[in-house]
Parts: sequence; structure tokens; C-alpha cells
Amino acid sequence: MDVEKSFRVEKTELMRSFLLTDQDQDALQRLEEFNHLMMKYHAVIREVTTKLEILNDEFSHSKRRNPIETISFRIKKPISIAQKLRRKGVPVAVDSIMSTLNDVAGIRVICSFVDDIYAVAEMLIQQDDVRLIEKKDYIQNPKSNGYRSLHLVLEVPVFFSTHKEPMRVEVQIRTVAMDFWASLEHQIRYKNHTAETRRIAGELKECADVIAQTDLRMQALRDEVIKQQE
Ligand code: GTP
Ligand code: MG
Repeated sequence: MDVEKSFRVEKTELMRSFLLTDQDQDALQRLEEFNHLMMKYHAVIREVTTKLEILNDEFSHSKRRNPIETISFRIKKPISIAQKLRRKGVPVAVDSIMSTLNDVAGIRVICSFVDDIYAVAEMLIQQDDVRLIEKKDYIQNPKSNGYRSLHLVLEVPVFFSTHKEPMRVEVQIRTVAMDFWASLEHQIRYKNHTAETRRIAGELKECADVIAQTDLRMQALRDEVIKQQE
């Protein structure tokens, strides 16, 4: 560190200790540690998103179509992080986050067709710096409410200035149709405080099954058209 920079750091530290109580300084330190950790989760999101974009580009070159429609991401909000840590019975502290939670960084990949989901997942998992920690296939085994999606927890090394660190990210991969159902079901579920809960759940499940059949029909139509072109 050059002299001028170290002087600046010292000055900031001095001002801090002058203006803040010990308790304030503790709180500030925890806040900075938290922000630093969130920066690392942003980094792993960028890394995995880039991997997905490259796969999509390459696939569209070789197969002349894009398997991925959209990629979105989110970092879990502090309040949700705290609630989940409490639910799991661990201290609500920055140190607990990395060791307890797999879904602080989340990426959602929306694919065109069902088989694209597995193609994208496979292309990602087989990369030699990607470690598969957990896979939940809610397409082969839909949840009882009808929810379908492929969930992966991946661990990827992220390179920082002095070291590399394995960071975890949850990747949810689903079709446009599955995503349509999941986002509307989410809205309906949260608004539903009626006595008709069971009937509504039953109808939602029926919608999910119709959507799943439609997904497969669309895939069959695509295959038919490809065959005709060959
Ligand atoms: P948590 O991560 O603590 O919720 O438990 P889990 O790890 O067992 O959850 P899972 O991996 O099954 O699902 C986590 C995420 O998938 C949720 O945060 C949602 O984004 C999505 N998800 C799971 N089930 C449903 C569902 O029934 N409806 C909708 N709309 N989304 C769901
Ligand atoms: Mg989860």
C-alpha cells in the first residue's frame, strides 16, 4: 500500500473510532463483512451467468437455435437470510451464511423446450470447475402441488485478488410454460385466504398437468419440423 493510501486509511480509522462507540464499531464491522460477502455472491452469479451465455451462443451456432430464452438472477434479501438462518436454528450471523445456505445467490434459466433443460444442466455440470452439490428434479418428480423445475446447487471457484474461493449458487432451470405456472401460482397462493383453499389447490395442480402435457406436445412438434427439414 502506498504511503498516501495508508495515510488515508489511518485517517478514516481514526475518524471512525473518534465518532463511534465500541458497539457502533462492532455493528459497522459486521455490516462491512456482510456487504463483502454479498459482493462475493454477486461474483459467482456473474461467473455462472457468463458460462450460461457462452453455452447458449455455442449451442445456437451448432444447432441453429437458442435453448435459453432468458436468464435472471437475485441475491437473497437480508431479512430472508435472517429468517432462514433462524428457521434452521443457527445464529443469525455473517459467519453462518456460507456454511448454512445454498441459495443466497440464485439464477433462473428459462428454456424453450423440456429437453433443453437437461441439455443446459448437463453442459454446465460437466465443466471441470463446476461442482454439483445437489440436484432436485421436480420435472421427473413434480411437487404435489404441480410445481415443475430442475434445481441445481453448484459450487464454483471465484478468483479474487489474493485467493480463490468456492462459492455456491442455486440454479433453477425450467421452461417458459413451467415459469408461467410458477409465477402465477406464487401470486395466487399468497393472495388466497379463502375457504376454497382445497379446490383452488386442486385446480392449480390440474393447470400444472395441462401445461406439462402442452410442453411435451410443443417439443414433439419441434421434433417433427426438424425431421421434415432433414
Ligand atoms: P427452501 O430453499 O428453504 O425454500 O427449501 P428447499 O431447499 O427444500 O426448497 P426447494 O429447493 O424445493 O425450492 C426452493 C425454491 O424453489 C423456492 O424458493 C422457489 O423459488 C421455488 N419453488 C419451490 N417450490 C415451489 C412452488 O411450489 N411454487 C413456486 N412458485 N415456486 C417454488
Ligand atoms: Mg433451497
